[in-house]
Amino acid sequence: MASGFRLIFATSLLLALLDLCRGSTIGICYGRNADDLPTPDKAAQLVQLHNIKYVRIYDSNIQVLKAFGNTGVELMIGVPNSDLLAISQYQSNADTWLKNSILPYYPATKITYITVGAEVTESPSNFSAQVVPAMRNVLTALKKVGLSKKIKVSTTHSLGVLSRSFPPSAGAFNSSHASFLKPLLEFLAENQSPFMVDIYPYYAYRDSPSNVTLDYALFESSSDVIDPNTGLLYTNMLDAQIDAIYYALMALNFKTIKIMVTETGWPSKGSPKETAATPDNAQTYNTNLIRHVINNTGTPAKPGERLDIYIFSLFNENRKPGLDSERNWGLFYPDQTSVYNLDFTGKGSADVITQANVTSSNVTTWCIASSKASELDLQNALDWACGPGNVDCTAIQPSQPCFEPDNTVAHASFAFNNYYQQNGATDVACSFGGTGIKVDKNPKRSSRLSGWQGVFDVYVSGWKASFSFNCPSNLLSGSSYA
Ligand SMILES: *[C@@H]1O[C@H](CO)[C@@H](O)[C@H](O)[C@H]1NC(C)=O
Ligand SMILES: *[C@@H]1O[C@H](CO)[C@@H](O)[C@H](O)[C@H]1NC(C)=O
Ligand SMILES: *[C@@H]1O[C@H](CO)[C@@H](O)[C@H](O)[C@H]1NC(C)=O
Ligand SMILES: *[C@@H]1O[C@H](CO)[C@@H](O)[C@H](O)[C@H]1NC(C)=O
Ligand SMILES: *[C@@H]1O[C@H](CO)[C@@H](O)[C@H](O)[C@H]1NC(C)=O
Ligand SMILES: *[C@@H]1O[C@H](CO)[C@@H](O)[C@H](O)[C@H]1NC(C)=O
Repeated sequence: MASGFRLIFATSLLLALLDLCRGSTIGICYGRNADDLPTPDKAAQLVQLHNIKYVRIYDSNIQVLKAFGNTGVELMIGVPNSDLLAISQYQSNADTWLKNSILPYYPATKITYITVGAEVTESPSNFSAQVVPAMRNVLTALKKVGLSKKIKVSTTHSLGVLSRSFPPSAGAFNSSHASFLKPLLEFLAENQSPFMVDIYPYYAYRDSPSNVTLDYALFESSSDVIDPNTGLLYTNMLDAQIDAIYYALMALNFKTIKIMVTETGWPSKGSPKETAATPDNAQTYNTNLIRHVINNTGTPAKPGERLDIYIFSLFNENRKPGLDSERNWGLFYPDQTSVYNLDFTGKGSADVITQANVTSSNVTTWCIASSKASELDLQNALDWACGPGNVDCTAIQPSQPCFEPDNTVAHASFAFNNYYQQNGATDVACSFGGTGIKVDKNPKRSSRLSGWQGVFDVYVSGWKASFSFNCPSNLLSGSSYA
């Protein structure tokens, strides 16, 4: 008995440590309120291509669950507000939902969170009384099949649950929602589930530009905002809003509940009055957000605390009602091309400097396929480059001049490199979900082809990559070097 206990204890300690070491994560929201989106299979490919590991959806659509099967991507799925009543009323409804909508696809599809209702305090219909009973029934259903430790149950909130968010240390929940929040927070604490909140510095800026500077909202501020009660310095609005939630939880003595940001982002386009909704600002916000999160800085009140954040949204959604900005939160257009470049690794900044050096020192840089990448990842990336990426891939078709050597690494290298050269040779243009590698060593010149040939290996940060071009110069972008 005693050794069994020790083993279990050691295992859970190890798991706790692994959890601590996991670091902050960036995911993406995959909203589908549109009539022109690619199929879920295509969307899942796009997500993998950009190396995104966490995805939030708003329901439990079967096609979407299937599309993410065996991809390793972790899904947060949702019970829509309209289904809360049924699930809150009868345990059997929750059991049936789990049995029919989730279990057939689990664990091939890695589901880790279920959001039961979304932003109910914003809804004109008052769903709030149904949320906690529905959460309890979903949790009970999970317990019955032994999944309550693997799949966490929570619900999402808007920042409107607070009556006060400034200064952060004065953060407080709106007492009108007390009868909803009290049992909810007890449920979260008891089950180690996170408090989920959608946070939009964009709205804070849009609605009171005289009180919030654009730089502060975009993580670009050169001066700090000081919380007079704590003396903590805030360099950006997102941190301040997260800490306002943290202090609101502390004020009610819920000290163990973690906060998770289930939506944030910036629109790339808006109505004429929404002057801050531009591709530049959206790129700045999301780029800085990713860097900030990946850096594991935490927030001023909780330095070093892991942050899990989902960017809203994968695609522009043409059927969302409201102002123009509502339909323009996407990182991608429905045809899967980027609205603006975004480096999901958050590590682009250092490399940009390297690249400037490389250019000025007159060495051509190339983007080629990593031979470490899996065949499937390479094929997906190749399909993307030759499709939405707009690379002309005629030359790598059978009997065309760049077809040999006939393998995925060689074909992907051709497509990656042409995409990279056509898109400004920036680091982001050589990402391909981690399967692209930028190199500054040239392949062999071939007199026979008056182009490039040879398959030889280079080592980049200890990884083996392969040059596999066998191609006339005029078909290979970036080969102007003589
Ligand atoms: C919503 O319903 C609950 C319980 O029925 C009630 O306590 C609460 O005041 C209502 N909230 C609003 C905003 O109407
Ligand atoms: C608190 O919530 C109630 C009900 O939704 C709302 O009418 C009121 O304006 C809110 N108070 C604050 C300070 O936000
Ligand atoms: C700006 O802040 C002041 C003081 O906190 C407040 O009274 C005012 O309503 C705010 N203005 C806007 C547009 O939110
Ligand atoms: C990253 O972390 C370091 C040290 O914790 C900090 O000085 C730096 O400002 C952080 N960078 C970003 C982008 O948050
Ligand atoms: C890169 O450029 C900077 C500034 O021009 C220079 O100081 C540095 O030595 C260069 N590095 C290399 C490797 O050429
Ligand atoms: C770049 O290299 C080529 C060939 O080595 C040389 O002819 C050319 O003058 C160089 N250009 C610059 C700007 O150094």
